[in-house]
Amino acid sequence: MTSPGKFFITTAIDYTNAAPHIGHAYEKVLADTLARYHRLKGDPTYYLTGVDQHGTKVKQAAEKEGIAPREFADRVTAKFLSLWETLGISRDGWASTTDLRHIRAVQSILQSLYDKGELYKARHEGFYSVRQEQFLTEKERGPDGNFGPEWGEVVRIEEENWYFKLASHRDWLLGFLQSHGDFVTPAFRRSELVNAVEKIGGDLCISRPKERLSWGIEIPFDPGFVTYVWFDALINYISFAGYPACGDGSLPDFATLWPCDAHVIGKDILVPAHGIYWPIMLHAMGFADDQMPRLLVHGWWNIGGAKMSKSLGNSVDPAVLADKYGPDALRYYLLRDIATGQDADFSEERLRIRYNSELANDTGNLLNRTLNMAARYRGGKLRRLPASDPAGATLDESACRVAGEYVAAMDAFQPQAALESVAHLVSEANGYVETSAPWKLAKDPAASDRLDAVLYRLAETLRLVGVLLLPALPRAAEGLFGQLCWTPPADMVLHDLVKSVLPDGHTLGAPVPLFPRIEMQEIIP
Ligand code: ME8
Ligand code: MG
Repeated sequence: MTSPGKFFITTAIDYTNAAPHIGHAYEKVLADTLARYHRLKGDPTYYLTGVDQHGTKVKQAAEKEGIAPREFADRVTAKFLSLWETLGISRDGWASTTDLRHIRAVQSILQSLYDKGELYKARHEGFYSVRQEQFLTEKERGPDGNFGPEWGEVVRIEEENWYFKLASHRDWLLGFLQSHGDFVTPAFRRSELVNAVEKIGGDLCISRPKERLSWGIEIPFDPGFVTYVWFDALINYISFAGYPACGDGSLPDFATLWPCDAHVIGKDILVPAHGIYWPIMLHAMGFADDQMPRLLVHGWWNIGGAKMSKSLGNSVDPAVLADKYGPDALRYYLLRDIATGQDADFSEERLRIRYNSELANDTGNLLNRTLNMAARYRGGKLRRLPASDPAGATLDESACRVAGEYVAAMDAFQPQAALESVAHLVSEANGYVETSAPWKLAKDPAASDRLDAVLYRLAETLRLVGVLLLPALPRAAEGLFGQLCWTPPADMVLHDLVKSVLPDGHTLGAPVPLFPRIEMQEIIP
């Protein structure tokens, strides 16, 4: 087991130009599970997430509804907050880019980059993508010479703006990527990033004239301009982590927290924002190479192999799913049916199948039959006996092995594999119920110790399963502990896990369905 260290995790801050969708929910549940896992490991953990409220898209969405951008952004933000509440997202910080502290941090960073000579003003004429909020260059043209549909409406613009000397840091970034192989996880994304860095042609336009866009952070040394939304948004990762220090104790201590152990982002925002702009911004600000964050890049949930989008009418509302199946079922599916880094196809049917088979049938059944047998044969009271049969010893060994596999998978940011190991342990324990047949042992006075040993094994396995499920399904795990009548110690750490913890004479509670089955006929008309 690795020694405890700190763990700082962030997720991309979500645009407030539309309602939260399944991809947003996935990203927060993934990061929440990793954060809860690290807390369980005893690592001082900080989980930051939030909302990206500025920019043209928010302004346009607000205009469509005939309200002010602030009102629109607040309304959408409330939807995100309410979903995170429903899903049990245990954030420690909330990054909202209209927060005054963030605005001050962005302005002080801009000022210092200006003082260092990293910014300059220039006139530029070119094509601009309204949807992506960026100027387009020749390399963005498709094979047919046109700008593809992914850019949305493309307009010709001539204007004066502020530029950040991105290209002058290209060689530094290439060298950094070469010497810091762990900057991006999974590794297969690295070559994609290196290719993009090699192609850096020009500098980054970091302002928008107020006549065109006023919904942004004013450039401190040129009030006719606001800050480009990505330059503003990326800074959230440090402005809400206590940079620059404001000294009022309202934010974490930056020196303790930084660098970030995992910026959790989707694959679409690696290039150029998080893989190019962000490290170069930090480098230009004076951050050393060993002060660079690490990126954890997840894949996308698609529908029938195609992109999910509101305009295609195939997007799935996570709030509706959480309401229909319960937050645990949704969390479990989003963690269990996608390997971190890969894409997956979203399917409501698979959500029901995963839940019914692994949670309702297997885990729920193990809990239910264990508590029932303990109540029937022993009035719920356990005796702390070592395994007295080879199958019991094997189950103990499996529990040890699964705990090890679980830790390795979670340390590698792979909850899917971790939960798969837990599911195997549960099946094995159900198999042990069959082979040890407590109902037969109960009839044989000579097998009395043996029966106690079996019941103890099962109760301990369930306790372990509860601990391992805690990061992924905090509510269900609490429910399971409640039925075992066991309160996890406040300072519980993972390496205590496999010891026989339930004391001699411990009394289990009464079974209550923990994962009620989703009945298909109730769902499908
Ligand atoms: O990109 N599957 O915001 P956003 C999985 N504001 N993840 C998905 C997804 C899908 N179908 N669709 C989107 C932004 N995401 C910026 C970020 S950070 C300084 C600023 C992920 O609301 C996406 O990859 O468009 C991103 O990580 C997150 O949802 C927010 O996307
Ligand atoms: Mg996006």
